[in-house]
Amino acid sequence: MQQHTVLGIDIGGSGIKGSLIDIRSGEMLGERLRLTTPQPATPEAVADTFAQLVEMHQWKGLVGCGFPAIVKHNVALTAANIDKSWIGVDIADIFERKSGCTVAAVNDADAAGLAMMRFGIGKGELGVVLVVTIGTGIGSALFHNGQLVPNTELGHVFLHNMPAEQYTADSVRKRLELSWKDWGARLSEYLRHLERIMSPDLFILGGGVSKQFDEYASFIKVDTPVRAARLQNNAGAIGAAYYAWQQTQLL
Ligand code: BGC
Repeated sequence: MQQHTVLGIDIGGSGIKGSLIDIRSGEMLGERLRLTTPQPATPEAVADTFAQLVEMHQWKGLVGCGFPAIVKHNVALTAANIDKSWIGVDIADIFERKSGCTVAAVNDADAAGLAMMRFGIGKGELGVVLVVTIGTGIGSALFHNGQLVPNTELGHVFLHNMPAEQYTADSVRKRLELSWKDWGARLSEYLRHLERIMSPDLFILGGGVSKQFDEYASFIKVDTPVRAARLQNNAGAIGAAYYAWQQTQLL
């Protein structure tokens, strides 16, 4: 079993979640554990929490880590919703030093998208699929015929003179106490913009708010079909585990 098991960890603005994943089926093996993201979320502090989560799983093998930034060759290149001191840091390196495990890092939305396309709502979908994850920020994962094009960062396209995530994220809905109708209209504007620039065949919405899709689905006016991932709350951890395993297959 061990060789098909990978620990998937999803680093978020408020929580760090992990579970052991069977990368053949995408199923969780055992419990999902969550620790609060330390504040400020500096590399040292987050790495300590990461190591604690690894230890709680009594895990010594491969770990895949979803991280909320552009991640190139394990290095964080941006830090929109996490401490700025992450920029330029090798995520895998600092986590490996603290946890003693081998780590592969990937953008969090790319990780969630990989899980959805491989095991979930996007399975078998060809053409251009655009996964949009909506939470503290907005992340995106672009697929063409099932193949990921990493680090698209479409939460940062401009809408009303600001990065779209500052207008449309779920954190904005909560902070401004927007009704579903008002927030749904914002999301609709955003998706229409993405539709014009990316011409997707399918949108998949992820993130916690995808569970409440019924509340705002009627306000979304786009021509492209829209699906909500709803139950795939753990997609970030599953996809991160799957990504790490994929990397070992490339060696
Ligand atoms: C970051 C992305 C991330 C998204 C969701 C954005 O602010 O720039 O890299 O995927 O938030 O966490």
